[in-house]
Amino acid sequence: MKVTVVGSGYVGLVSGACLADVGNDVLCLDVDPSKIRILEEGGIPIHEPGLLEVVQRNVQAGRLRFTTDIPAAVRHGDVQFIAVGTPPDEDGSADLQYVLAAARNIGRHMDGYRVVVDKSTVPVGTADKVRAAIAEEVAARGAALEYSVVSNPEFLKEGAAVDDFMRPDRIIVGADDARAIDWMRELYAPFQRNHERLLVMDVRSAELTKYAANAMLATRISFMNELANLAETLGADIELVRQGIGSDPRIGWHFLYAGCGYGGSCFPKDVKALVRTGREHGHDLRLLGAVESVNERQKRRLVDKIVARFGDNLAGRRFALWGLAFKPNTDDMREAPSRVVLEELFRRGASAVAYDPVAMDEAQRIFGDEPRLAYAARPMDAVDGADALVIVTEWKEFRSPDFPRVRDLLRQPVVFDGRNMYEPAVLERHGIEYFGIGRG
Ligand code: UDX
Repeated sequence: MKVTVVGSGYVGLVSGACLADVGNDVLCLDVDPSKIRILEEGGIPIHEPGLLEVVQRNVQAGRLRFTTDIPAAVRHGDVQFIAVGTPPDEDGSADLQYVLAAARNIGRHMDGYRVVVDKSTVPVGTADKVRAAIAEEVAARGAALEYSVVSNPEFLKEGAAVDDFMRPDRIIVGADDARAIDWMRELYAPFQRNHERLLVMDVRSAELTKYAANAMLATRISFMNELANLAETLGADIELVRQGIGSDPRIGWHFLYAGCGYGGSCFPKDVKALVRTGREHGHDLRLLGAVESVNERQKRRLVDKIVARFGDNLAGRRFALWGLAFKPNTDDMREAPSRVVLEELFRRGASAVAYDPVAMDEAQRIFGDEPRLAYAARPMDAVDGADALVIVTEWKEFRSPDFPRVRDLLRQPVVFDGRNMYEPAVLERHGIEYFGIGRG
């Protein structure tokens, strides 16, 4: 099929490349010429494992192209995916200006039936707004053109996005038009595996499904974080509690890890947006409000522990920070706990030497010439001479460090482990004072 993807960011590029990989003719549009230039020169503007290979082989095969030409992009695809950004407004609601601009462009330039797919995470009711925006443009041209608006939310995890697209747990299609449903079935047929993955529903339910999934996952994390804090006081170990409850299949093993809070481009934004949607419709979503505030507090938890150990005035102290990205396998630092940790340390007069396998450029972009932040080329260089080691992201390479070396390089052998990577007893054996999350 001929497919256009509007927005060549994270979601758009992964979707476009994967749809090309199964044989579709895909054109990716972006208004940012620098992004398109990188793509045309054979690179990708984001860090995502496996994506570069998929992009390159499809560019070579002539199935994947990039453009900044809006009319050409609208003419190309029978299916038009809208995968542009929806940044949060100051009040927490999703800013739809880019989504609606994309819809207007489709209305302005389409020359036949189009299936317009909302791929970006957008509040319930957005499909109606997209439909209205297209209708207005089509009417202004005096044209009589047919189109259908479909909600098809993405469930891509950063760091595993290609695999999530290629081997989806489910494909949600919200649509009310038989032709559009047929086209979506055809488009996604190559991604069905041993059983039917495509769930057709009404548009609003599809839109809400996306928020429901992320809010549920965020709830599990905040629940575990709250219990972790209690476990600490009670002298219980949240890791053992996790194993004790995860073995119940009704609960399951996933997303039960206590830590220094969730970050990223989805959970914080989507939980806020859903709370906002509730409020707009007269529902006070108290549980989700709490999920959010528990998470905000949890991001400060590591610094609370540092303060409890070293005192409120951290002037003259230097901390080693392992991990800047909001989670492993990405360079994304949006809403990352590391940012809160660093800001709180700086506020108390401390400095930091950070190491992250891929996110140091991103940190430099965010923190600029911050004099209190230095970067280390290797994990142990960060540790050398620091007052304590603080772990914020559970990168694989931090799993089994040379503990005696960590102990000897630190000015004081103290480790604050925001991701419960280590066993307290093991560090104790190595003569290291250990602070995890919820390990009473
Ligand atoms: C998430 C959803 O998983 C994905 O389906 C959706 O489309 C986009 O949002 P992502 O933001 O890439 O994906 O990250 P995810 O792996 O879900 O982790 C989110 C955050 O939760 C991370 O900061 C992670 O460290 C944290 N987390 C996750 C925990 O603190 N504990 C857990 O048990 C799991």
